[in-house]
Amino acid sequence: MKVLRTTEQLAAHRAALAPDRRVAFVPTMGYLHEGHLSLLREARRRVPPEAGEVVLSIFVNPTQFDRADDLDAYPRDEAGDLEKARSVGVDVVFCPDDPAELYPPGHATFVEVEGLDRHLCGASRPGHFRGVCTVVLKLWNLVRPDLAFFGEKDFQQLAIVQRMHRDLFLGGTIVPMPTVREPDGLALSSRNARLSPEARVQARALPRFLAQVRARFEAGERRVAALLDGAERALAPGRVDYVSVVDAETLAPVDRVAAPAVAAAAVFYGPVRLIDHVRLVP
Ligand code: PAJ
Repeated sequence: MKVLRTTEQLAAHRAALAPDRRVAFVPTMGYLHEGHLSLLREARRRVPPEAGEVVLSIFVNPTQFDRADDLDAYPRDEAGDLEKARSVGVDVVFCPDDPAELYPPGHATFVEVEGLDRHLCGASRPGHFRGVCTVVLKLWNLVRPDLAFFGEKDFQQLAIVQRMHRDLFLGGTIVPMPTVREPDGLALSSRNARLSPEARVQARALPRFLAQVRARFEAGERRVAALLDGAERALAPGRVDYVSVVDAETLAPVDRVAAPAVAAAAVFYGPVRLIDHVRLVP
């Protein structure tokens, strides 16, 4: 497994790759868990060693954090990540030591996908998706993947990256991957490591509440007010950032579910903000 530290090394590696070799790419911010590993295993399955390479990037991207304390608190474990990457057969890890590798002095270009970032996490974390799109485009241009894997767990991120990919003719294919969960339903996230034991137990309420919303929907309820009734109580003592039902295409809030929709929530358990969602398809 090759570990590359600079954009120059990554660009040189890519340029030297034979044209018939395929590239499967998994961008992450590290602190790898089974969710990330499921993406890497699928990348390896779709591009086996005889067909090409699996490239993993590990970069805690400063431009997608709206709060400095959140960036500082983001968990990191490079040695553990490299070990896990090796265990699932990754060929190349790009993990720059210095954020200036991706944002050198004078960096001035940002990418924004309009509209889709108006609601949900886009509304409560200003500039977040601009930072995500900017770093994903930079990495995409360096790696030039045939396949790139993104988790449905971050469904707004996936929708926005898919739109950027289409609008900017990035080439290659985006592969959406299902959410990997703990046995009690909590979606795996690097942020879960920061939950206190008490908050970890409380956080079960998030997937449980969303499962209840889906059960109400499957029982025939279409009014969003009724679907979300009792949310604050059900999610307590978590502090609700948002609970919303949005159209699956536009991500704009709806009052009734008449077309494919998504019930999504962001809730703070202690200082840790967790997100989750369920699909509601009439
Ligand atoms: P990160 O949170 O590290 O996630 C990396 C990828 O793993 C994302 O595509 C995310 O959706 C996926 N993922 C996270 N938890 C998952 C789970 N429980 N099941 C399945 N997939 C999961 O998302 C980012 O990093 C960054 O925003 C990034 C795209 C790398 C840009 O900086």
